[in-house]
Amino acid sequence: MTDDLSSLGAETFAAVEAADNLASLEALRVAVLGRQGRLTSLLRALGEVPEDLRRERGQALNRLRDEIASAIAERRALLQAAAQDAGIAAERIDVTLPPRPSVLGLIHPISRTIGEIVAIFGALGFRVVEGPEIEDDWHNFGALNIPEHHPARQEMDTFYLPPRGTNARRVLRTHTSPGQIRTMTAAPPPYRVIVPGRTYRADHDATHSPMFHQCEGLAIDKAITLGHLKGCLIDFLRAFFDKPELPVRFRASYFPFTEPSMEVDIGWNRQSGELGQGGDWLEILGSGMVHPRVLANCGVDPGEWQGFAFGMGIERLTMLKQGITDLRPFFESDLRWLRHYGFSPLRPPILHEGLAG
Ligand code: DAH
Repeated sequence: MTDDLSSLGAETFAAVEAADNLASLEALRVAVLGRQGRLTSLLRALGEVPEDLRRERGQALNRLRDEIASAIAERRALLQAAAQDAGIAAERIDVTLPPRPSVLGLIHPISRTIGEIVAIFGALGFRVVEGPEIEDDWHNFGALNIPEHHPARQEMDTFYLPPRGTNARRVLRTHTSPGQIRTMTAAPPPYRVIVPGRTYRADHDATHSPMFHQCEGLAIDKAITLGHLKGCLIDFLRAFFDKPELPVRFRASYFPFTEPSMEVDIGWNRQSGELGQGGDWLEILGSGMVHPRVLANCGVDPGEWQGFAFGMGIERLTMLKQGITDLRPFFESDLRWLRHYGFSPLRPPILHEGLAG
């Protein structure tokens, strides 16, 4: 190879190595191999080379052109891969960045309890339904077998709303039991539902708030028995309070919408306030086998279907589990109280982790 070719080669290969981006590599390619490029010009000038040298010089030029072209192609592939890596690195989100606790909200203890109830009954095959907080007389009372002059109506300290047009008298629901009626009139049986939500009664002191929360439960099928009721509620209470040995007692009672009716008590120690053993009993919820008249009121044939219902106060469950003694701060939005009793939204209630809270 003649000197001019070997120095062109050496120069070009060094420049290819040194090119650190695709644009300068392309400029180099044009300067050497382009139409006006240095090597192209030499090829074009081949005609002026004396005949005895022409063949050898032509071969040398072609070889050099091929070597330069493949060196450029190799370098281009390398630079393209590097550019792609840089692009991906720039787009990446750093998921290891910790959250900023100062802007983190907290879950209210009432919402936490509802979440735990939903987790436990969800595992037992119940689904969540909701109903309106403004109810009519029939859903809140009549269909539940509480007739016009029944004492249960007085006991409930109902908030009545002014009549609207010819509509029946409306009330703020005094319990979540109308959720049973709404469920049964919306679709044919079977049913396995819970109805958590807000309820209202004209009552206000350390243990009563005019707005409070309940959770209703309803299980109707062909052969649901009182045994299922007991099993479900014992399982629920032991899971909720995270006490596998929690004593649970069923005590005969009366509700217009169940027959038989039972109040459910859990064991506790009156002196220490501790749940579990201790010989004392604490009333915790109401339950029973759904009254045949309630089924019939909803168009469900009591000769074919039967089951149980229950209702519990969510504030009470929350106070017992979290050791909160006064009901009033629940709804006062005092940030100090909320920060003390609130739950991390990053740790939702998950059954297999236990619900000790
Ligand atoms: N609705 C009742 C109340 O507010 C609670 C209740 C008792 C609901 C027994 C039920 C039940 O479903 O079976 O006091």
